[in-house]
Amino acid sequence: MASKRLVVDVHTHLYLPRYASLLRQRTALPKIITRTGIDGQNEERLVILKDEPSGGRPIGRSYVERDEKLKFMKKHGIDISIVSTANPWLDFLHPKEAHELALQLNDDLEEYCATGPSVSGTSMRQLYGFGLLPIVPKISIESLLEAVRQIFASPHLRGIIMGTRGIGKGLDDQMLDPVWSAISEAGLTVFLHPHYGIPKEAWGEKNNGHVLPLALGFPMETTIATTRLILSGVFDRFPSLRLFLAHSGGALPQLSSRLASCIDHDPVVASRLKHDARFYLGKLYLDAVCYGPEELGFVSDVLARASRYDTGSKDVVSGGRSMGSERLLFGTDHPFFPPLSTSEKWKSVVENLDAIDNVQGWTEADKDGVKGGNAISLFNL
Ligand code: URA
Ligand code: ZN
Repeated sequence: MASKRLVVDVHTHLYLPRYASLLRQRTALPKIITRTGIDGQNEERLVILKDEPSGGRPIGRSYVERDEKLKFMKKHGIDISIVSTANPWLDFLHPKEAHELALQLNDDLEEYCATGPSVSGTSMRQLYGFGLLPIVPKISIESLLEAVRQIFASPHLRGIIMGTRGIGKGLDDQMLDPVWSAISEAGLTVFLHPHYGIPKEAWGEKNNGHVLPLALGFPMETTIATTRLILSGVFDRFPSLRLFLAHSGGALPQLSSRLASCIDHDPVVASRLKHDARFYLGKLYLDAVCYGPEELGFVSDVLARASRYDTGSKDVVSGGRSMGSERLLFGTDHPFFPPLSTSEKWKSVVENLDAIDNVQGWTEADKDGVKGGNAISLFNL
């Protein structure tokens, strides 16, 4: 079947023109600034992270223009992209602004995808999207539900990208239950993505550029937010909730047995959950953005093991597929991590594709699934 071999990028960002104009008008974070580069030319820079080093990062046309996204896809053999607004989404806005902008940006993204090219020889389009919720403090739950309904009704939007703050108290806030319920019923997938990292005091005083916040802070934020969701019992209350984690779930796969043990030994939580913590890992979907075959294989093994805590089965292979590989999906994080020097292909992309090709024990079916087949099923493309 042709669709089995399509490459689908599920972790790929943009700033829609309407959002980029807002960032250009702002003087506080997040913002886009213009400064004179070392070559005397004006350059735009993206300043979005608190305590961001070196005046932010260069932002080029690839962040905003659809043609640049399509060129990038062509260069790397990517057939379909499920694009998402990059961080920090609407987190910095007041409820009324966030509500209005979410609805406008969801319409913009639907049009961006719907008017893009289709995958030749198929009924699929090359571009699909994750919509936005106006998930900010003091927003009404009805406003969040309205955005869920809008995304559900937008044919090319297949999920929702979300940060970790919720409506002020994080994602384990019970006030969000109607939202999880609506998202589950709509069959939308939540893409959980970090932005805040961990406090800068952890990084010491040396100038290490963006390395520590991006390599460690981002994944730790995802790890903590997901663990809190698990501990809140969200997956017991909404067993069909589909949560898709950035950066291969951060440190959660590595720490999941330790988490299970800590729960078992803690009188406050020991009887709260219906299952062992490792069971819930088997319900997650993770991107394959971890840059190495050993790491990817490890994560896959951890996901496969979850069935032991479900059916009691020790099988990690089913129907010729590693059960873990079925929950991993190729991503690039484009347009972040561009090469420092001009190169034909982006190292960040090549490494993630190579990692998939070189996981020990994976069959061609596993690799095809992670590169595209799993996304086609999960997002019903
Ligand atoms: N840096 C960001 O700010 N966001 C990403 O998604 C990746 C790198
Ligand atoms: Zn990202």
